[in-house]
Amino acid sequence: MSLNGVEVIPGARRLIRSLRDMGYEFPAAVADLVDNSIEAKASVVRIDVSWNGEHSHVQIADNGKGMTASDLREAMRYGAEREYDTEDLGKFGLGLKTASLSQCSKLTVASRWNPNRVDINAYCWDFDHIEATNRWEILPVASQALHPEVREHLKETAGTVVIWERLDRVLGYKRPDGEHARKHLMVMCRELEEHLAMVFHRFLAGEVRGKKLSIYLNNNKIVPWDPFARSEAATQKLDDVAIRVESENAKTDVILEPFVLPAQSKFSSPEAHARASGPRKWNLQQGFYIYRADRMIQSGGWSGIRTLDEHLKLARVALNFSPRLDEAFKINVPKMRVNLPASIRDDVSKALAPVFRLANSAYRTGEKPATSSGRTNPTTRTSSPSPSSAPTARSNGAPGSADITDSSLPVVNSANPGNGSSISVSLEDVGLLLERISLPDELPIVQRVIARARSTYGT
Ligand SMILES: Nc1ncnc2c1ncn2[C@@H]1O[C@H](COP(=O)(O)OP(=O)(O)O)[C@@H](O)[C@H]1O
Ligand SMILES: [Mg+2]
Repeated sequence: MSLNGVEVIPGARRLIRSLRDMGYEFPAAVADLVDNSIEAKASVVRIDVSWNGEHSHVQIADNGKGMTASDLREAMRYGAEREYDTEDLGKFGLGLKTASLSQCSKLTVASRWNPNRVDINAYCWDFDHIEATNRWEILPVASQALHPEVREHLKETAGTVVIWERLDRVLGYKRPDGEHARKHLMVMCRELEEHLAMVFHRFLAGEVRGKKLSIYLNNNKIVPWDPFARSEAATQKLDDVAIRVESENAKTDVILEPFVLPAQSKFSSPEAHARASGPRKWNLQQGFYIYRADRMIQSGGWSGIRTLDEHLKLARVALNFSPRLDEAFKINVPKMRVNLPASIRDDVSKALAPVFRLANSAYRTGEKPATSSGRTNPTTRTSSPSPSSAPTARSNGAPGSADITDSSLPVVNSANPGNGSSISVSLEDVGLLLERISLPDELPIVQRVIARARSTYGT
């Protein structure tokens, strides 16, 4: 017996509005579009954030393979259909729309696929139209109606340009033309630069075969930030550890690559030490760097394996997983967070014991004046500078380029978690405490606020 189904189409107005609140922050939203460019085999992505009051806009232009008109219409669909490879960065068929419309209320995508002919197709999602019609309708955009720079870009190369206009979520509703909004956009740009330098560092440094990428932000080339300071002679790399994860439809290894970074006195220069500190500074940057298909999803923190600890701040561990394990890692749509599968927690904990010992001793010896060269654990090897992976020095704006004073950090010890008496009141301390008491859902927001407080107050 066959049943006659009754199709119940969701209300466009309400659903599209609620999908704005999936939890994207500005840098993560842009990063989701860079994922799409990488997947389209782009070698260059140009991001322009231009301030012009309420007419400010963000543009992300790539030289990837572009889309035909029908590809583009499919791409604009919520839940776009396509086959995914095991190493693809995309997943839900949502990112282009949800990431964009979490920040703006008009999304235009223009694309050219034919390398031999300048043939541009463009469509937009416009909230005003959805508000007026309550329909899941995109609007075609005539080529002449596109910004001249968009046409310029697509005249020179096949590829795709994504344009965000009416940046209500980025600038705030009340005074999008005010000084406050302008400054806010500048802060956002700085955060974006740090974020992209970090999450795509393997692509930017040419470490991912066949996927070398350059990203320009307002014409400045983004320099990769290597969380493991591999160009420092005193950085210690421990042996990789493979841990098998068995999920319903896959048996795949997760690879841990543990590093112990040099203590302050063993760094080649104070600048190199400050640069290695990272966007959230030494204490918060200890922990896992979780990569899905070489794209970083999470940076720092021990994912519940243990608490942050001043003595372990030199320990940083790359954890690589394949998209085949998405179910086990419970990746979310904004790709801002994953869960470490319960089945591997014990093995990961055990594998990290020698890392913690080494990090602890590096921390203790590094605190003394640098008299002797630090001896390393026999099971470790010291990394040598490698030109392909070594980030070049940044002149300014590098993640962690702000000065830090380690002595101002509280000692966070799991055996003594609530001892507030030893804590001096600094932004660093407050940040650390807030991070410790945050629930998992709150953590990304809290971390964002802490980062903003740092850039605002210049600590
Ligand atoms: N910059 C781009 N270049 C070429 N194709 C793109 C680009 N951005 C998006 N697409 C196409 O649109 C589809 C939908 O993108 P998206 O909504 O981000 O979902 P997902 O990446 O999870 O598939 C992608 O699968 C891809 O086919
Ligand atoms: Mg995508």
